[in-house]
Amino acid sequence: MKERLQKIKGDTLEKIEKIGDLADFEEIRIKILGKKGELTKVLRGMGQIPAEERPAMGKLANEIRAEIEEKLEGKRKELEEKIKKIQEKKESIDVTANPQTVEIGHRHPLHQTMEELEDLFLSMGFDIIDGPEIETVENNFDLLNSPKDHPSRDRSDTFYIDDKTVLRTHTSPVQIRVMKSQELPIRMVSAGRTFRFDEVDDTHSPMFHQLEGLVVDKNVTMANLIDTLDMFIHALFGKDMKTRYRPHYFPFTEPSIEVDVSCFDCKGRGCDACHYTGWSMELLGGGLVHPKVLENCGIDSSIYSGFAFGLGVDRITMVKHNISDIRLLYENDQRFLEQF
Ligand code: PHE
Repeated sequence: MKERLQKIKGDTLEKIEKIGDLADFEEIRIKILGKKGELTKVLRGMGQIPAEERPAMGKLANEIRAEIEEKLEGKRKELEEKIKKIQEKKESIDVTANPQTVEIGHRHPLHQTMEELEDLFLSMGFDIIDGPEIETVENNFDLLNSPKDHPSRDRSDTFYIDDKTVLRTHTSPVQIRVMKSQELPIRMVSAGRTFRFDEVDDTHSPMFHQLEGLVVDKNVTMANLIDTLDMFIHALFGKDMKTRYRPHYFPFTEPSIEVDVSCFDCKGRGCDACHYTGWSMELLGGGLVHPKVLENCGIDSSIYSGFAFGLGVDRITMVKHNISDIRLLYENDQRFLEQF
């Protein structure tokens, strides 16, 4: 009996060492200590050995049982610890991983200007409208009263996709879209990309941005246009900014104007940047909507009148931030963009 007990002990301790998971653990525990387990059987057979040997055998059996139980308990703890570690590894997030890969950017200075302008006009009760960059020749030129032989229609000035389709050369075709589809009165601005076949230099880019404005209602006059433009220029650049309105020509407005503001560098005193005129030129063009354009869109020009304006978002951004080269706006050099 003693040998049997010693053998069970030796075998069992060896098996316990090799236990790899909780299933193994449970199998061995039942096999040894379970109701029909090997050790249990031996203990039950205690009645058959001579009475004088019983106390010593009983003691030994109990010691072995205690030792096996202790070993098993140790193994169980070890296994649970292992499982916990695996679980933690699976669930944990390493907050120090990739510390430098996520950088939060910000809006491009051109979009900042466009949003600022849109917000301003929104506060004056204008709607914000989106127009397509690919336009029909009809909307871009014909219905805007542009003469058939107008130089801007030339293939050397405009990107044609086919005979009837162009990359819009200005945002003015949005005027046509809105007048044709929306109810009167109209008060809208529309900002976006425009395209012209221009040679790239420090003030020209074949892709640039405009913001178009259009108001159509009864009794709209030049005074309304000038007042609206003064208001937005003062809001954008400050009350001190002076404006100058010069007569101009656009096929789709009559009369037409161009607007200058005092030079940003010298505040009107005269300097290199403004060629000693004191004025920053060609920020925007506008005028009263030509009656023919109203009629082209089915609006009775004897009842309704309107004003329209178009401004160069790139120019305004450059003037506002004192940027001397338009190319900087399109090169996406982070060292430049980070400054805004
Ligand atoms: N579309 C004109 C341009 O690109 C600007 C303009 C818009 C002028 C609306 C008058 C009215 O130069």
